[in-house]
Amino acid sequence: MATCRVSVLSLTFCTSFDVRVRSDNLNTSFTGNRSEPVARSARHRLFPRVASRRSRVRAVQATYDYDLVIIGAGVGGHGAALHARSRGLKTAVLTGGDAGGTCVNRGCVPSKALLAAAGKVRELRTVERLQAMGISVRGQVDYDRQAVSNHANSLASRVRGNLVQSLRGLGVDVLDARGALVAPQKVELLKPRERTGERVVTARDVVIATGSVPAVPPGIQVDGKTVFTSDDALKLEWVPEWIAIIGSGYIGLEFSDVYTALGSEVTFIEAAPKLMPSFDAEISRYAERLLISPRPVDAYTGVLATKVVPGIPGQKPVHIELVNAETKAPVEVLQVDAALVATGRRPYTDGLGLEKLGVRLNKGFVPVDDHMRVLDETGAPIEHLYCIGDANGKLMLAHAASAQGISVVEHIAGNTSYRLRMECIPAACFTHPEISMVGFTEEQARAIAERERFELGKALGHFRANSKALAENHAEGIAKVLFRKDTGELLGMHIIGMHAADLIHEAANAMQTGIPVHKLAFAVHTHPTLSEICDEAFKAAAGMAAH
Ligand SMILES: *[C@@H]1O[C@H](CO)[C@@H](O)[C@H](O)[C@H]1NC(C)=O
Repeated sequence: MATCRVSVLSLTFCTSFDVRVRSDNLNTSFTGNRSEPVARSARHRLFPRVASRRSRVRAVQATYDYDLVIIGAGVGGHGAALHARSRGLKTAVLTGGDAGGTCVNRGCVPSKALLAAAGKVRELRTVERLQAMGISVRGQVDYDRQAVSNHANSLASRVRGNLVQSLRGLGVDVLDARGALVAPQKVELLKPRERTGERVVTARDVVIATGSVPAVPPGIQVDGKTVFTSDDALKLEWVPEWIAIIGSGYIGLEFSDVYTALGSEVTFIEAAPKLMPSFDAEISRYAERLLISPRPVDAYTGVLATKVVPGIPGQKPVHIELVNAETKAPVEVLQVDAALVATGRRPYTDGLGLEKLGVRLNKGFVPVDDHMRVLDETGAPIEHLYCIGDANGKLMLAHAASAQGISVVEHIAGNTSYRLRMECIPAACFTHPEISMVGFTEEQARAIAERERFELGKALGHFRANSKALAENHAEGIAKVLFRKDTGELLGMHIIGMHAADLIHEAANAMQTGIPVHKLAFAVHTHPTLSEICDEAFKAAAGMAAH
């Protein structure tokens, strides 16, 4: 729930990263040669001049019910709809009975509420840290589980309400239906949970934004009470004494942060040979030091949970069978109070009717090109049909979905110069302290430097050298910037420490706009702020002293 991502999970993040790299390669090989000229000529026929956008919209409204129909009202569909309105498009959004989608209802938003409450509990129970600042807490610091849960749920409904209101306020038709494609520009409206269509609407362009659901590996039985996914964990129906968390990606780490703050012991079960496999290695070593070792957390790595059988709270434990991930030899049987399955997410693309349009789903993911156009089985784009967000699997983060939605609307509006740069999209894990990143890990950047024969630069900033972090008595962590030594181009930044999720945008914006690190080094930062940790790293990159 890293950003909704919850962002996201190690597995997903990792997978989508691979997918992105692969599809980039694909696109350079065929978008350039085949689909691009087709698209361009089609657009030229349809819209002779960009300047005549208004008249075009009017002309189109005569033929279609809408300029744009968006299937799905999560953060991706919402972002697409807002931008469509600012581009003057007549727009409808189909909520499928789930306005707000995963992020708002079962992801980033409610998880941030749990993390905020749990973080305060941890802070108030960390007596030494408080004493060092002259504060003592008398009596026990307690929390009311139901009230914490209510905080998360009421936040979700408030954000959901705001989202629907913002759509309506901008003149978007919000339809409480699911959508199925009967043709590329025809969407049948279905009542949530019913199979029969009410009516068919036509649209010049259609965007699929149906998102994803938690993935549960085979052999794991989910009962929603003792064995559950993030969907149920967010309800915080109880706080188990001992919980196994299967998967040490973003979701697993965030829930470990919540549960250990509220008094649980955690056992991670990770299939990769080390914890947090998708993170930059240096950052995951810091994370191990800050988030794992000082807490009641242990871990099995290189093992798979092949069988998980639910128990009965307070009576019968959850039964977990572990095997070696390589050899499949039995390792151990665990009996714990609860198990959280945080092994990634799978696309929610059933029943969209895509097969009829000649689309071959890839493990449920909708294949798309760089403009998010849906590809048919020959790899050619289907005109006027797009897919954004988790459903295409490029990068399973809420804000990535929204950014893809904006890029689709630009494309529809005839702006071919705009291409979303996926490698500049930041991500965060909202543990205490937070972890954030943009661009490549150091390992990936080294491989690229070697392949493309440039020298990789690396520079650090430290929380322990920062006045604000010291004042807060939270002076743990680092910021690491990776760049090309010849051009100063940023290749990535990784931060672990207090408010890392907010600090990453300086680097993300610089990457997005192409500002080299030696220019960033001259940008002035307010003193004293945490942002000076980035300043220290940028200055170090340019060979300047910050202290
Ligand atoms: C196209 O997108 C770019 C962003 O890449 C934007 O700056 C520009 O204003 C857009 N062009 C038009 C004609 O809207």
